[in-house]
Amino acid sequence: MARKFFVGGNWKCNGTIDHVKKIVTMLNESEVPSEDIVEVVVSPPFVFLPLVKALLRSDFAIAAQNCWVRRGGAFTGEISAEMLVNLGIPWVILGHSERRSLLGESNDFVADKVGYALSQGLMVIACVGETLEQREAGSTMDVVAAQTKAIAEKITHWTNIVLAYEPVWAIGTGKVATPAQAQEVHVGLRKWLSEYVSSEVASSTRIIYGGSVNAANCKELAAQPDVDGFLVGGASLKPEFVVIIKSATVKSSD
Ligand code: PGA
Repeated sequence: MARKFFVGGNWKCNGTIDHVKKIVTMLNESEVPSEDIVEVVVSPPFVFLPLVKALLRSDFAIAAQNCWVRRGGAFTGEISAEMLVNLGIPWVILGHSERRSLLGESNDFVADKVGYALSQGLMVIACVGETLEQREAGSTMDVVAAQTKAIAEKITHWTNIVLAYEPVWAIGTGKVATPAQAQEVHVGLRKWLSEYVSSEVASSTRIIYGGSVNAANCKELAAQPDVDGFLVGGASLKPEFVVIIKSATVKSSD
């Protein structure tokens, strides 16, 4: 079963109203492959979600960068999944390594968030990835498998999940995983899904790569058979994001 190429743009904690408007104009004016070939989702900070929703072209979707682990209520500073649904935001990024490391989000907490967000009808970009120390210790697969296992235990279907493999050492560092390194982990994750979830889920779930993806390296990464797209940070704020979206054609010209 063909997996549609997926390109997410994670704007992180960046932007002003003017900057956001400029990025959206750039995206709206861009020529990209059709929706049959690539799914594009951009993720602005919470406060800009309504603005981006009002201005962004309809063939691009929007993701929040996080949401609360359960129903809203007395949780100062949090944003609930219900609020995102109410706002018409279809996607949410969960388990990003910046939240895991800077805000102490554990595998179980992330998995609970994924389960709750799915139960509310959101689609989830779930992030996994190892640190440099873990890679050097040879435990990459163990780490991403444990992160994925925690999620698998909390969910019953995988249709609305995109799994993002984001090696922590490659995020925002300019150090990109080689195509072979990305492919190796993506294959490992697919094997894990096949063994512990099902072969259908393994073959249909999109596994995207994130970590210093840019206009220069996207094509070679996109050509890897198990790389189904990207989660892009820094470059998603720049015109080169459009070049990254276009790398989807590497797949369609197979
Ligand atoms: P980067 O970030 O592209 O700036 O490395 C990727 C991410 O954190 O999703």
